Amino acid sequence: MATNRTFTMIKPDAVESGNIGNILQMITDAGFDIKAMKFTQLTEEQAKKFYEVHKERPFYQELVDYMISGPIVAAILEKDNAVADFRSLIGATDPTEAEEGTIRKKYAESKAKNAVHGSDSDENAKIEGDFHFSSDEVIG
Ligand code: CMP
Repeated sequence: MATNRTFTMIKPDAVESGNIGNILQMITDAGFDIKAMKFTQLTEEQAKKFYEVHKERPFYQELVDYMISGPIVAAILEKDNAVADFRSLIGATDPTEAEEGTIRKKYAESKAKNAVHGSDSDENAKIEGDFHFSSDEVIG
């Protein structure tokens, strides 16, 4: 059964280009409620663990290096059908394939520097949210 939460990160490229505010506006305009949020910078150990599922991929170390290259915003978001609706809002991994009006179409630089992360399943949304937030940092 679909849960109503997902997890996102605004990635270093989008923070660096000054688009935290624009992206949060798109997220809240789309009806997502912010249940937890922090501005932080990942350590290499954290980034490796978060993206462990990709460790056999050729781009794994590039991805880790990029994700620790600057601060990020991590957040837990709530909305009916949150995981699927958020993936629609952010668009395809590769911004050249993302639909018009999506966050990645507007703000991503490339397939690697793609502005935002969105959980791909309810199970991963819970794992990823728990990775970044303790229960007393989540409101409601
Ligand atoms: P994300 O949705 O956070 O999940 C995995 C990430 O790996 C993805 O966004 C991209 O940032 C990155 N990624 C996926 N494919 C490639 C690729 N071919 N080259 C470099 N990075 C990639």
